[in-house]
Amino acid sequence: LENGLALTPPMGWLAWERFRCNVDCREDPRNCISETLFYEMADRLAEDGWRDLGYKYINIDDCWSAKQRDAAGRLVPDPERFPRGMKALADYVHARGLKLGIYGDLGTLTCGGYPGTTLDLVEQDAQTFAEWGVDMLKLDGCYSSSEEQAKGYPAMARALNATGRPIVYSCSWPAYQGGLPPKVNYTILAEVCNLWRNYDDIQDSWDSVLSILDWFSANQDVLQPVAGPGHWNDPDMLIIGNFGLSYEQSRSQMALWTVMAAPLLMSTDLRTISPSAKEILQNRLMIQINQDPLGIQGRRIVKEKFHIEVFLRPLSRATSALVFFSRRTDMPFVYTTSLAKLHFPEDTVYEVQDVYSGKIISGLKTEDSFSVVINPSGVVMWYLCPVALPVQPWHVVRQ
Ligand code: DGJ
Repeated sequence: LENGLALTPPMGWLAWERFRCNVDCREDPRNCISETLFYEMADRLAEDGWRDLGYKYINIDDCWSAKQRDAAGRLVPDPERFPRGMKALADYVHARGLKLGIYGDLGTLTCGGYPGTTLDLVEQDAQTFAEWGVDMLKLDGCYSSSEEQAKGYPAMARALNATGRPIVYSCSWPAYQGGLPPKVNYTILAEVCNLWRNYDDIQDSWDSVLSILDWFSANQDVLQPVAGPGHWNDPDMLIIGNFGLSYEQSRSQMALWTVMAAPLLMSTDLRTISPSAKEILQNRLMIQINQDPLGIQGRRIVKEKFHIEVFLRPLSRATSALVFFSRRTDMPFVYTTSLAKLHFPEDTVYEVQDVYSGKIISGLKTEDSFSVVINPSGVVMWYLCPVALPVQPWHVVRQ
């Protein structure tokens, strides 16, 4: 969507995967979907280094609203869980240099059973969100037909635009249509939405991460070309910091989502996150790669029989990122290859930086054979910069 927004993949925090539809604030006041949760996460984003690295969006998901619209037919937040209201929350978030995201559902009800946005209510709800000072909308697709979605998702894009407020628009539309052509028209989607969920919801497990990765890799010929500044595929939230991933698997999700040019929307408790998970999510070179201005989505370029895969993402200024990924379950694997085998241009010399260890390898030539040691369910990630070729003797001009 060409609204000048999301020129790089959006970064921030999204409530759903970690906090779900927990509305029991009496039993679980710290973790229920209430304004307290969002005020507290906003503080963490602002004070713990996240915002300054680019994690600017704090996004509400399902189950925030009252079960009924108000007398004027407007959406209202649950009065007990959001007593100060959405405008006050947006003001608080903005005062900390952050942006607020909200959730709606094109249909009669949200997936969690809260009031949805039917076609006749699209404009009114867009207006409400804009008046509150919302900066991003995730529009889910439970309880609507394909026909309603084909009308409603573009209608919401127009309605958001008509409010005059810049609002990043995330559509779940393709996820409800199987994610693939001919049912999904990615040309239209890229004109209508800034990002879109293509596939299943992520859950707190490595199996879930792998199933998403498999689907995105299997369909990369369709998906890879449609991503770019202002329009992104969304393989769903980062679950790093939660319960389902080991340290190696957490590093893998971060690296793989980064080469896929995925939005970096964390869904974890930033009040209690471990130092090691924080370090993965706050890796500066990783974020620089994810946010590369060219916005080219990477591809899986190698799939070995012995369960090693290699992904490549081209980056600006002829740099690139490689991810060597092991699906093995035995022991660290020594993978030997060369940049020539990975189809890098001939006769070039690279300076390589290991994105996690920070180690530098200088003078790697395209033809040189090299080895990386990849842990089970882990990655090695490289950032490669071509350097000028050493001057060859026949280029030396005699005085
Ligand atoms: C389905 C979406 O795909 C999830 O990300 C989440 O928003 C839930 N609905 C909420 O009910």
